[in-house]
Amino acid sequence: MQHRSLTIAALLLLPCTLIAQWKSLPDVDSLRYENGATVLLHAGKSVTRVQVLADDLVRIRCVPGGSALGAGFSWAVVKRDWKPPVVRRLETDSAITLASTTLKVVIGRRPLRISFLDSAGHLVNADHPGKGMSQSGNEIRVWKIMPPDEHYFGLGEKGGSFNRRGSHTAMWNSDIPAYGPDTDPLYQSIPFFYGVREGKAYGIFFDNPAWSSFDFGKESRNQYSFGAESGEIDYYFFCGPTPRKILSTFTELVGRMPLPPRWSLGYQQCRWSYTPESRVREIAESFRSQRIPCDVIYLDIDYMEGYRVFTWNARNFPSPERLLTDLARDGFKVVAIIDPGIKIDSSYAAYRSGEAGNHFVSRSDGTVFTGDVWPGRCAFPDFTNQRTRTWWGEQFSGLVHSGIKGWWNDMNEPSVFNTPTRTIDLAAVHRTDFGPSSHAGNHNIYGMQMTRATFEGVRKLVPGERPFVLTRASYAGGQQFAAAWTGDNVASWEHFAMALRMCLSMSISGQPFVGSDIGGFLGYPSGELFARWLQLGIFTPLMRAHSEINEPNKEPWEYGAEFTVINRETINLRYALLPYIYGVMQEAAATGIPAMRPMMFDNPTDLINLDESTQFTFGSDLLVAPVLQQGAVKRRVNLPAGFWYDYWTGVLHAGGKEVSVDAPINRIPFFIRAGAAIPTQQVVQYTSEAPVDPLTILVYPHPSGIRTQSVFYEDDGTSLRFQKGEYLRRTLTQSGSVDSLTLVLSAAEGIYRPASRSLIFRVLSAGKTPKRVTLNNMSSNRREISPSTRQEDGWWMDEKDGAITIRCPDRTDSVRLAISYR
Ligand code: GLC
Repeated sequence: MQHRSLTIAALLLLPCTLIAQWKSLPDVDSLRYENGATVLLHAGKSVTRVQVLADDLVRIRCVPGGSALGAGFSWAVVKRDWKPPVVRRLETDSAITLASTTLKVVIGRRPLRISFLDSAGHLVNADHPGKGMSQSGNEIRVWKIMPPDEHYFGLGEKGGSFNRRGSHTAMWNSDIPAYGPDTDPLYQSIPFFYGVREGKAYGIFFDNPAWSSFDFGKESRNQYSFGAESGEIDYYFFCGPTPRKILSTFTELVGRMPLPPRWSLGYQQCRWSYTPESRVREIAESFRSQRIPCDVIYLDIDYMEGYRVFTWNARNFPSPERLLTDLARDGFKVVAIIDPGIKIDSSYAAYRSGEAGNHFVSRSDGTVFTGDVWPGRCAFPDFTNQRTRTWWGEQFSGLVHSGIKGWWNDMNEPSVFNTPTRTIDLAAVHRTDFGPSSHAGNHNIYGMQMTRATFEGVRKLVPGERPFVLTRASYAGGQQFAAAWTGDNVASWEHFAMALRMCLSMSISGQPFVGSDIGGFLGYPSGELFARWLQLGIFTPLMRAHSEINEPNKEPWEYGAEFTVINRETINLRYALLPYIYGVMQEAAATGIPAMRPMMFDNPTDLINLDESTQFTFGSDLLVAPVLQQGAVKRRVNLPAGFWYDYWTGVLHAGGKEVSVDAPINRIPFFIRAGAAIPTQQVVQYTSEAPVDPLTILVYPHPSGIRTQSVFYEDDGTSLRFQKGEYLRRTLTQSGSVDSLTLVLSAAEGIYRPASRSLIFRVLSAGKTPKRVTLNNMSSNRREISPSTRQEDGWWMDEKDGAITIRCPDRTDSVRLAISYR
């Protein structure tokens, strides 16, 4: 965080579009096909390249005021070898059309304007006829027609309304503590959005890391636009038509989150700062003695010597190895903060080697750029350079050796306290992998490249283990290197609701590993606010509580005995659900589809839900409706079509309507899709305390017995061996009728095998007692309802909720369970 006035930065960010003289593209003069799917067009002085990369993906590049395109490099794009799609070409007097099987790009000749149509010929998106692609000085911009019923979503970390129609927003990574819903821009830049209309979506990724902005109808009611201060027009068009398809292709283009270590999905406790060492031990000890599960404790800036990264403060942390060994024995992983600024101090090793290796960003006169951050005067590593990234990665060896397990990259917008721009001077020079260029043109990728250097360095130092990196600043595609949190928020109900919107927006913008400072970073939450925020934390992939240095203690036991019980139960529930949560994160890693999905993501046709950013699905089977209002003990929920079980009461609701449910202070309302099965485990105090045993599958039968399937995924949780087939995937198929239910758990796919354990099915049955239960075609024994018998195999009815509970050994081979009520 930083505290100075923001006026100058704000001035710098004023939309220049208001004052600029725009020149748009004239008529096409000539064209040339580079290959079957790519056409190069000249119009006046300008050059435009249209390339169909895949059936559903087109790249448009244009320099409206120049005569040649640049090298076309990108910091975000990882997939370049698209298999050329079959493209039909059609030329008429008025237009050139490139058609794949799912879209048509129509390039109007007089003047050069681009439209995208679906395969049926319906217009999906079109350049504004008057403006289209334009340039003014160095600034470039694209104007599009804005239909009155089109809505816009995405753009990553934005605090304002979830639906971006009517808003103007910028991309310029900025450190703004205690930001509000109208504060813009914030820490991260993901220039990727969805347009949604009549239930269909398209996507646009504007790949430009300079200052950029997006105007969805604030400037004018029938057009929207996006553009940047410098660079080229370089955007990708995803024709959809589902948000799911768009996000899948977008993350194929820019890369997906790697599978995180399982421990990083446990509860994480942070504050600025746990120091000295004895306080860290005290916190760890409190979690264990109070039986509140926790996997991670953070060290904020005070563990260092004068805020010099890669050092220890010898007075407060005299023996870090011993501390970290002791904490590891108690099941804690320690994550340390690493800021980019390197203190200018000739007796400091990182500075000396950075200077000797010429690793710092320089001013235009070649001297090292310096600016103040926590340690005082600092130099800033040039993460845009591969040689520097490698050097940076090597700096971690000492901390890795001490036993630090995760890395928190902060202040990496980068934030600088004493420059007019509050960051590196815009004219400072980066020696990027693609040649020298100014900070202005690279600002938004600085943080992402820092996380890349961190991730790659640590991966090299600890081969075979999955790194955990958390970042504040990033750019499109940053999910490949780091999880992200929403920066310095405030302990208020408004911020709590905003955190949810921001996490949802980041999720659909390619970053699934998101969370906010639970309870608020600045200010002090009431017990109620903390408890509600923690409950939401069950369903944010990153579940981390944090606090600013001057605030009173905010750990989960700090709000009185009653809330301690509630908070413990909340964290217990997170741990019980971990097998499901881990599976959802594995799906995100493999497909790009995030854990947190706003309602528009799977229901774009459902206009009621278009503005809905207060409920979401977590994975495909849980619908979560957190209580976001002070004092509320009821919650209204829009249930999508289908049938939904209330987790807390077992009541089955028909969807397609709004319901109101009880939400006492100890419960976050959530629902399970009928037909789903949720894998759960015993509560542990940390993820590696004990292997999952029993694996308990909560079965929620569909009322009409339609056939459904759920997939369960497991692996060792830390290594990369899953890439070589060491995982365990099984599918549970449910089918049945009013009188019977059959469950078939498929034999294991993959070669990972957990230690022998029990398997429990808990089948919701509305209290109906079965006549017969057979397991692999053999009659299973009915047990007395007494806890002592429950270690044995067989089946019984749970006296509390009337669920049928069946226990058997888990041999990871196929299991067939038949429940008959007749
Ligand atoms: C920044 C971070 C915050 C951290 C503090 C001290 O404000 O956003 O999380 O605690 O710096 O390092």
